[in-house]
This record gives sequence, structure tokens and C-alpha cells, in this order.
Amino acid sequence: MEISVKRGHPQEQKTACLIVGVHAGKKLSSAAKALDKALGGTLTKLFKRGDLTGATGETLMLHEAPGTSAERVLVIGCGKVEGIEAAEYQQIVGKAARAIADAGLRNAVACLTELEVKERDTHWKTLQAALAFHNSTYRFDQMKSKPSKKTRCAKLTLLVESARNTEAERAIAIADGMAEGLNLTKDLANLPGNHCPPKQLADAAKALGKAHKSLKITVLERAEMETLGMGSLLAVAQGSAEAPKLITLEYTGDATKSRPIVLVGKGVTFDSGGISIKPGPGMDEMKFDMCGAASVLGVMKAVASLGLAVNVVGVIPAVENMPDGKAIKPGDVVTSMSGQTIEILNTDAEGRLILCDALTYAARFEPDVVIDIATLTGACVIALGSHASGLLSNHDPLAEELLRAGQHSGDRAWRLPLWDDYQKQLESNFADMANVGGREAGTITAACFLARYTKAYRWAHLDIAGTAWHSGKAKGASGRPVPMLMEFILNRARRAG
Ligand code: BES
Ligand code: MN
Ligand code: ZN
Repeated sequence: MEISVKRGHPQEQKTACLIVGVHAGKKLSSAAKALDKALGGTLTKLFKRGDLTGATGETLMLHEAPGTSAERVLVIGCGKVEGIEAAEYQQIVGKAARAIADAGLRNAVACLTELEVKERDTHWKTLQAALAFHNSTYRFDQMKSKPSKKTRCAKLTLLVESARNTEAERAIAIADGMAEGLNLTKDLANLPGNHCPPKQLADAAKALGKAHKSLKITVLERAEMETLGMGSLLAVAQGSAEAPKLITLEYTGDATKSRPIVLVGKGVTFDSGGISIKPGPGMDEMKFDMCGAASVLGVMKAVASLGLAVNVVGVIPAVENMPDGKAIKPGDVVTSMSGQTIEILNTDAEGRLILCDALTYAARFEPDVVIDIATLTGACVIALGSHASGLLSNHDPLAEELLRAGQHSGDRAWRLPLWDDYQKQLESNFADMANVGGREAGTITAACFLARYTKAYRWAHLDIAGTAWHSGKAKGASGRPVPMLMEFILNRARRAG
């Protein structure tokens, strides 16, 4: 979708649909006031009749707009006039975008960046509006024999009042780059296991490398991982017919050779649980167990297409977790690349087993920080539901920086403690550690396991088990935590440049 910004009067816009906001208490936004006048007082009348209340997220489509140059008007409720909360604004632009998509309209003009949002500027409002419209045109129908014929919105114009065009244009460019990344993340995540084995993730990385000169791609095969001593990662892969891959993407955008941000994404392309097999219901959703990997690929794509002045490395351990005759068994002991030995008490706690070797490997990039992203524990879904990702870290400033990025982008995380007190749950009679720590504090003990491999650098862990995809009727990838990570990286690029 093409998004642009323009100055002008709402009633003079030639468009399939003009989008304006109204507030509770019969208050019109300034665009709505001008429009109401052109329409001969229709909006005021609708308020009087009670057909319009202005409640946040309310939508009303007027199929005719006499007196204006628009074919239709979409009125959107914006709640109280005294400052909209950031999350409310995201809801408003999301609803507006959805209404345009549902109506199958090819183009629209939106007067939504004039709304006052608490603690947010024009850049943010423009970025959020653009992201919402990009998101509303996302479809995953590549697995259907007949793709949907519904018209997709191809052109959105953001109408602005004053001369803040350059600020808005910069925000739109960032949204365009982010949307490219988000679409890749969602496409890869939505692909079923049989269409997205580890090789497919490696191929997706190679395709990115072809498209962007600034990206260097390396894919390690099983034999090379054996040489490196990645006994833990390879143990998970040994029960599957699919070959494991260790994918790295190196983006150099900062010629000063500053230490890179290293992103490590869990890429379990299907998690059956292995010999500790999962129960049947809902097991299909374990195709999403590579959402960490998909978010790393999406971020790398966005960063490269935006040409950001930062150095970022993506590391993706990609495997399938299956139970065949060669599969690891509960009680097996393996040696990780770090030399530490692990007693595998549960083959379904496989994420940490592949991540520990990838995290050891990450040290060779001399990172400034390492952030791993993983659909790691069901316990995180119990603790935080689908609203916040879990965040655990060995470095307070890094944790704060990520929390702020999440807060600002609306893609939030919540920190859990990583105290040593929890470490004893991982003690084993037979190896240096066990791969599970019992029923209590499952998200924390999983992170405690990873913490034993990340002592050499500043590290944060994002548990996205509850946030990376939606279940139920709207089943599908959410694209999280790409918005949080992009906010984090954009901030660092801004500081550097
Ligand atoms: N991929 C799962 C975690 C998961 C479960 C994410 C449900 C989203 C929804 C992970 O590999 C796993 O199976 N974890 C186990 C760990 C346990 C055996 C200690 C879990 O959470 O049950
Ligand atoms: Mn598992
Ligand atoms: Zn898993």
C-alpha cells in the first residue's frame, strides 16, 4: 500500500472514503467540523439522534457525502476530547483501517493525525496510523487454492493541517520499512510446519541477503555444528528428518564498527514435544514455535531496507522437535558448546537446548547487547496472558531500555526477576544442570537456564509465548515483538546518527 501525506481541506478530497474523528459529548474534531458544515450538519444531526456517540472505536460509514468530493465518510469515535491515550489512538486507527478493509475500498483519505494524543508527537501518530493501515491489508492466503478476490486498499493519504510534512513523511517511510519486515515475520510464522522446515528459514535469510548488499548471510550445517561442539542444539534435531540449520545475518550500517546488537531467535519449526510428546488438542499451534526466528528475520529486513546506522546481527538456531527412533530420551545427558553438560529431563523443554548453543556462539560477534526472542514457556502465557511479553535480563539499563521501547510502541513487555534463588531448581544429580526446573516459576527457571550461557555479555530474554500469535477465530501471527525491537533499534540509530 502506498501512503502519503498532504495538506488540504477535508471536504475537497476526491476519495472513496474520507475518515474523520468525533469525540464523546457531541464534540467534532476540527476536520469533522469542516466536513459537517459541507454536509449541511449531518454529523450534528446523527449525534442528536443518538446514532453517533463518539465512544472510542465506534465506526459509522456514511455511504453518501453530498456537498463534498468524497464518495463516503467514515466517522470514527475518539472518546474524550481532553487527550486520547496512546493505546486508545492505536485502537482508533486500527478500527478505521479495518473498516476500510472490510468495505473493500481501494483508497482513503484520513484526518487522524490532528487528534491530540497524550505524550505522543506527530511522528508517533503518523507512524501508528501508517502501521495500522499496512497491517489491515495483510492477508495470508498463499495456502488457499483460490486467493480471496476482495479489493485491497492501495492508497492512503494522511491529511495534515499544518506544514509538518517532512516529519510525517519520515514517519511514513519508517512505517513502510517496518511493514515489509512485519509482513515477512507474519508470512513465515503462519506457514505450516511442512512448508517451513529449517531449510526454508535459511532460504528466507539467503533471499534477504540477495536483496540487500548490507546483509551477509551464513548458514551452518549439521557437520559444522558438530565441529563447534553444539551437542545440545543437535540433540534436539536428532529425532527429526529435517536437517538443522544455524543461520546468521550480519547487517553493517555503522561504518565506525561499533559493537553490534545481536538478536537470537528460537526457530523450532514444529514442536511436537519429542518423546515427552505434547497432548493432541491445539498442537497445530506449535508451528508458531519459530516466531522468535521469524521476528529476527523481519527486523533484519526492516533494518536493511531502512538502511539504519546501526550494526545488527541475527542468529537463528533452526530445528524441528520430533520423536523418532533416534530422538533424545528423558534422562539423556548432552554436552553444550560451552562445555557445560545438561540432563534432558523433558524433551519438550527444547527451546533452551537450542538457544544455549546459539547464545554461546553469539559471543564471537563481540556484542554490545544480546537479546534472545523465544516462544519459550507455556508458563509465560499463564503469568502474563497475551498482553505483555516476558522480559528477563542480567543488565538493568538494557531491561529498562526494552521496557520503554515496548511502552512507546504499544508492544509491551513486563519484567520478571532473574534472582539466583531460582537457580537451584535446575540442579541435577547426573549433569551440570537439568533442562527443567519443576512446576514453579517456569518462565524464570527457563531464563535461569539461559543465564548460565550469557555471563560474558549484557543480555535480555523475551518470552513471546503469549504474544507472538493469536489463537481462536483470528488464529495467526501477530508480528510481535517486531514493533518493540524496531523502536529499540531506531532509538539507538537516532542516538548514533
Ligand atoms: N514451545 C513451547 C512453549 C509454548 C507452549 C509456547 C505453549 C506457547 C504455548 C516450549 O518448547 C515448551 O514446550 N515448553 C514447556 C517447558 C516445560 C516442559 C518445562 C512448557 O512450557 O510446557
Ligand atoms: Mn517444547
Ligand atoms: Zn518449543
